[in-house]
Amino acid sequence: MVSKIHHVGIVVENLARAYGFWRDTLGLPLRREAELPDQGVRAALLAAGDSEVELLEPLRPDTGVGRFLAKRGEGLHHLCFETPDVDAALDTLRGRQVPLIDDRARAGLAGRIAFLHPSACHGVLVELATPPDHGPLPESPVRLKRLVVGSRDPQGTGRTYQALFSLPEVAINGGARIMLGWEGGGTVLMVPAGEVGGLEGMVALSMVAPDIRGLIARLEGAGAAILPGAAEVTVEPKSSHGIHLHISRYHFP
Ligand code: CO
Repeated sequence: MVSKIHHVGIVVENLARAYGFWRDTLGLPLRREAELPDQGVRAALLAAGDSEVELLEPLRPDTGVGRFLAKRGEGLHHLCFETPDVDAALDTLRGRQVPLIDDRARAGLAGRIAFLHPSACHGVLVELATPPDHGPLPESPVRLKRLVVGSRDPQGTGRTYQALFSLPEVAINGGARIMLGWEGGGTVLMVPAGEVGGLEGMVALSMVAPDIRGLIARLEGAGAAILPGAAEVTVEPKSSHGIHLHISRYHFP
């Protein structure tokens, strides 16, 4: 039903300020920016390898994203899977009585889109998108690799996602953990909530970069709060608009 992580949606206070980190410091190429009045946001899509990062600034406080920002601050908001036919996917989900926010697909920044109700996916807001064919994504110096989801029952949560979206399982020696998705198309790693401070839902993002030293130099130059290592860097949420972000060196196959 779905073929990759199309994007991860991040709520930010101010799009222009968020560009300072995501576009200018990390170097993710901006693909599109538009105001989406029906969602109450100004949104932008930035290329991040085979997937994208979507930044969402609320237009008003009395919208879903505005209330999210007031209550939880900047941070991870939704996960979007690409599907070849969002209308057919919705028909299938509706036939299985899966709770949906959008009964019909509508126009969004990522193409024809629809949101499932968060209760369908253990509290994670999931979007499905059928993008227009704009050709290959531009090269980006940092690539999205993995979304980490905290759960009281990672195996059960994983089985739900597999049943809903036919997500393939990626073999890991993970104990209670389970990883779903695609090497190269993005993965979702379900971990016990106890390992991530008791948090449930989307908790962290992993990315990869071939030039980790150049990236660390850019982060330092921008004054970002980071914990650098020999082949990795962790960016503190105060510098990455609420995201626990880990970036490691990308090994070309
Ligand atoms: Co989205």
